[in-house]
Amino acid sequence: MSEPRIGPERKVLLAPSVLAADLSDLAGALKICEDGGADLVHFDVMDGHFVPNLTFGPPVLRDVVRRTKVPVDVHLMVSNPDALLDAYLEAGAAWVSVHQEVAVHLDRTLSRIRSAGARAGVVLNPATPAETLTDLLQSLDFVLLMSVNPGFGGQPFLPYVLDKARRLRSMLDERGLSQVQIQMDGGLGRDTIHRAAVAGVDVCVAGSAVFGADNPAAEIEHLRRLAEGTAS
Ligand code: DX5
Ligand code: ZN
Repeated sequence: MSEPRIGPERKVLLAPSVLAADLSDLAGALKICEDGGADLVHFDVMDGHFVPNLTFGPPVLRDVVRRTKVPVDVHLMVSNPDALLDAYLEAGAAWVSVHQEVAVHLDRTLSRIRSAGARAGVVLNPATPAETLTDLLQSLDFVLLMSVNPGFGGQPFLPYVLDKARRLRSMLDERGLSQVQIQMDGGLGRDTIHRAAVAGVDVCVAGSAVFGADNPAAEIEHLRRLAEGTAS
């Protein structure tokens, strides 16, 4: 058995997804993220084609970035990431992830993201195996594992994705790529977030678990401590 990856020495990053906030008050959602000490603001871009929902265009991202000091993590759920990438990079994305299922020239796409000074990630749908990234791991900053089918917040966590996180962590460890972070997105909350961290997840996205809480700002720190195993 390998050593558990969590403990007092290991920090788990918490990224609230503003998709679950009151979308008529994005500034209020950003204040909650800042007050709660969020590490990233997770920003879900949906195009009504790759996923059956529509959300935020580049002008919304630009104003969100202007409004907050927290780095914004842009999850592109779009069919044509190469066509839209520049607009989101210019709008100030700090982290950008594109789906493996639609990005046909992933190596080039990741290079474009890094050249713009952002951190580059690849997203895998629940059904997409980690092994599809075997030859690309050294070229990315993070891998985002979907633990729900993308498109909507508030869906139940798919526990079989934990095994993929463990396999991916082993693949990274075998290659000496410990700097590559594993992010998980979907259905993470009080009941699931610790299992994700134990499986090797470094960055936990949480939408409804944060913004549906009685005290959303306090819940950010609570979820991070639950993930790290320093709260129960
Ligand atoms: C789903 C989005 C998620 C979503 C997570 O397609 O990518 O980021 O906001 O929401 P919860 O945490 O409610 O599952
Ligand atoms: Zn997301």
